Amino acid sequence: MPDAAARPRILVSQALPSDALLSAQTRADVDVHDADAPLPKAALKGRLRGRGGLVCLITDTIDEDLLASCPDLRVVANVAVGFNNVDVAAATRRGVVVTNTPDVLTDTTADFAWALLMATARRMIEADRYVREGRFKQWEYMRLLGGDIHGKTLGIIGFGRIGRAMGRRALGFGMRVLYQDAVAADVPTERGLNATRVDLATLLRESDFVTVHTPLSPETHHLIGVAALEAMKKTAYLINASRGPVVDEAALVEALREGWIAGAGLDVFEDEPTVHPDLIGLANVVLSPHIASASHDTRLKMATLAIDNCLAVLEGGTPPTPVNPEVLRARPH
Ligand code: DGY
Repeated sequence: MPDAAARPRILVSQALPSDALLSAQTRADVDVHDADAPLPKAALKGRLRGRGGLVCLITDTIDEDLLASCPDLRVVANVAVGFNNVDVAAATRRGVVVTNTPDVLTDTTADFAWALLMATARRMIEADRYVREGRFKQWEYMRLLGGDIHGKTLGIIGFGRIGRAMGRRALGFGMRVLYQDAVAADVPTERGLNATRVDLATLLRESDFVTVHTPLSPETHHLIGVAALEAMKKTAYLINASRGPVVDEAALVEALREGWIAGAGLDVFEDEPTVHPDLIGLANVVLSPHIASASHDTRLKMATLAIDNCLAVLEGGTPPTPVNPEVLRARPH
């Protein structure tokens, strides 16, 4: 165990799996805010005094003001692949390394997005409610008809790790895959996934399922709004397990209510944990509380990777998954 005086000092901003924390405690002085809610900003600033590392979650806002108030901070290790809760530009200016947790959650997130897609098209939640409410009195030929998945066209917006993992799942369902991304995938990937890069208009017009896997940025904010929803097929379904503000929720409510599209499956919302009140009353939308990466194994892997990232920086090493590697390159050798 390193000498106590030389041990890195870190703050874990919210509860994480105990196995990950135990291993962190063998390498560092760890202060844990053991709760499922973020600390108020003033308390976060206070607990960061004298600490070089912060392991935080997507509900912690790491902005310029916080960074300016924590001169000891050298690394912000976000326990998520998305990092729109962190002002990365401000961190980079201040020489603070930011890290995230890609890869370890890819398949778990895609599994869940796929479950959402199937639950939405095949009306699983309505069916469950129907049985529980005692309404299943006799088998009816035309009851709870849904949309087919196999053989249909899947449109993937954002063809990164999770988007491609959706493509792999689509192969098993004999689907045609269209994708939209600023960067084209290499030819073997396109061939292997039977995927064709198209523009957004084509994807929206031709897809039976549109699934969103793009990061949130000024360019993707409300990417799916009135125009996009109107462009989709009336029989199509929208799935979002990326970030809520990519979809204009008020426009989606209108689309679901007026039948511009057949249904939607949402794991993320514009203003979490608030959900647009009109979504709650609609039967053709399946809702879940931002849990796509929430499996036991994956949440442990994410926490372990974030702690490894954090301690690697503080121990003078290279973190496995930095978001702003330019800060590391600028470190004195
Ligand atoms: C992520 O990793 O970005 C998820 O949204 C939270 O697990």
